Amino acid sequence: MKFEVLTIFPEIIECYIKHGVVGKALNKGIAEVKIYNLRDFTSDKHKKVDDYPYGGGAGMVMQIEPFYKAIMHVKEDKKPKKLLLLSPQGRKFMQKLAQEFIEENKGMVLICGRYEGIDERVKAFVDEEVSVGDYVLSGGELAALVIIDSIVRLIPGALGDELSAVEDSFMKGLLDYPHYTRPEDFKGMKVPEVLLSGDHKKIALWRKRQALKNTLKNRPDLLKNLSRDDMKILKELCSEINKKILEGVYEPVNN
Ligand code: ADE
Repeated sequence: MKFEVLTIFPEIIECYIKHGVVGKALNKGIAEVKIYNLRDFTSDKHKKVDDYPYGGGAGMVMQIEPFYKAIMHVKEDKKPKKLLLLSPQGRKFMQKLAQEFIEENKGMVLICGRYEGIDERVKAFVDEEVSVGDYVLSGGELAALVIIDSIVRLIPGALGDELSAVEDSFMKGLLDYPHYTRPEDFKGMKVPEVLLSGDHKKIALWRKRQALKNTLKNRPDLLKNLSRDDMKILKELCSEINKKILEGVYEPVNN
């Protein structure tokens, strides 16, 4: 899978992609990242990419021309590509979208803005605006890396163990279960007994229960379309919590 990144800070992308899962995927040749510096697509000698906003106001706005020229350049090879503009105003990027993108199996062009914003007219040349969350970053580079990393993990062969991506949080619609490794006892904090039992059925059940518990605590909005078995575990968890409330385990806070 090929990713092309348009940015004025190529070093940010270059640095990250050398490491970890993405770095390995690039070395194996199952993913490719090509970075274009938007300043190379400017026509003035100072390689200026921004200007004052029409209508006034604080900050600078990135000009359309470098984006337009860079976009025309990446389109020259006529290969199917999805052009994504990274911005907090875009469709929220989630695991489901990562899966959709990988299934589409097209190249991806990730367009990073900076400063106060970019000229609105750039949007006419992209397929979609994508946000990585409801917060404002100083630029699209981190968002582009989030997208590259999460998609590369899904490329067959990118992870050492093929099962790992399937086991990732969100892949099965739930948050992850807790993980432990040696030592068995760290300052009195013990690894749950069941994980030492060697009973794989029991371990799988414990992990499912923990995943449901984590999801109930932190992301109850994800508890949709549960199987009959998962629903049964969830009901048990809820009645345990209910019992604790009735026993007065949880104290009210004064506010
Ligand atoms: N650029 C700035 N903030 C962003 C966000 N939340 N998602 C994608 N691109 C961004």
